[in-house]
Amino acid sequence: MLGGQCGDAARLAMSILVRMAEVYEAPELMDVTQAHIDGCALMCDSGLEFAENLVALGARVSIPTTLNMIPLDLQNWGRLGIPEEFANKAIRIARAYTDMGCIPTWTCAPYQGYLTPRFGQQIAWGESNAIVYANSVLGARTNRYGDYMDICAAITGRVPKSGLHLKENRKGQSLLRLVDIQPQLLRDDTLYVALGHFIGGLFQEGIPVIEGLPTSATNDQLKALGAAAASSGAVALFHAIGVTPEANTLKEAFQGEVPEPVINVCFSDLRRAWLDLSTAEEGAELDAVVLGCPHFSYAEFQQLAQIIEEQGRLPHPGVRVLVLTSQTSYALLQRGNFIDTLLSFSVEIILDTCVFHSPIISPDAKVIMTNSGKCAYYAPGELNVQVAFGSMRDCIRSAIEGAVCWGETAWKES
Ligand code: F3S
Repeated sequence: MLGGQCGDAARLAMSILVRMAEVYEAPELMDVTQAHIDGCALMCDSGLEFAENLVALGARVSIPTTLNMIPLDLQNWGRLGIPEEFANKAIRIARAYTDMGCIPTWTCAPYQGYLTPRFGQQIAWGESNAIVYANSVLGARTNRYGDYMDICAAITGRVPKSGLHLKENRKGQSLLRLVDIQPQLLRDDTLYVALGHFIGGLFQEGIPVIEGLPTSATNDQLKALGAAAASSGAVALFHAIGVTPEANTLKEAFQGEVPEPVINVCFSDLRRAWLDLSTAEEGAELDAVVLGCPHFSYAEFQQLAQIIEEQGRLPHPGVRVLVLTSQTSYALLQRGNFIDTLLSFSVEIILDTCVFHSPIISPDAKVIMTNSGKCAYYAPGELNVQVAFGSMRDCIRSAIEGAVCWGETAWKES
């Protein structure tokens, strides 16, 4: 490939990978059998130019390759008031990647859609929340591949042999013991976000092993944990004893070594993390609720519909309720029997994209509320808003009241 026998695009992609192998100090390259591309997000015009240049050079992916969200809801962008010039660029980048043979999944939760990787499968994934989920919850193996190394891996089917691709680099590095956490709180979705936010802040790039999570932890809760940990830090892999597949026992998680250091995590640590996720005060006038970061699953839509039905009231006229999701979850939603509940609450279902990459939220918005640690972490800097973090129920209650309100929650105790 480096010699150009497989075409100019493969030669370019391989030259980048070989250079990156030197950076990683990897002695050789290795095969990967699946890729997920984050580089289709239109972070800058040069990203579009790079993709279109690859197409012009005849690039084709050589392994099954899914795509992260794109900067546009392709079906609804006109209704959302997206400027045409922006939409045209977004459509061009979407087309460039599909022209290379990528599968148009357009989601940041590819593990809940099409082509979920297998345990032990060597993959090259971009998108921080997807990476940590693939490594931790599925037991697939990937490093954190950034734009545009992901597409180079997809074209060549090769990556530097290094990091989390190798079993010896996947052993736990610190033990976190959850102590004195109420069983009820251990089932609460917000605990997983607070824990993820705490872990990311503490470990940055380490591999934490969590002891004390219930085996009943759902995929969506683990998704939320990983997304938060990969935002406040750069966590790419965590183990949870009895929950994640490389940590059936403490011994397995540490590959036979003695856990060191051991850190007790108690309620007050997690409460601090919970508090840290909000910059808005209780009672602040609310502009929008943002759910689905990472993209909403069918189970989360079910949960949302149930909460809306319980409340039995409509949102305040000034508050938008946005739910980001994939076409896959949306297709299931359309076949379920509760989409009318969501629509009657004026829920705006946004497909294929994300509020951080597509101008969906008005620049005049001042306060948003979310149940996502990742969204709470990035919103103040990226959207120039104040943010309130709360449970899905608190988000909906606040949308009804028109102002941030936290209901009965253990986190409010002083
Ligand atoms: Fe997905 Fe955007 Fe959140 S890419 S994880 S919805 S920041």
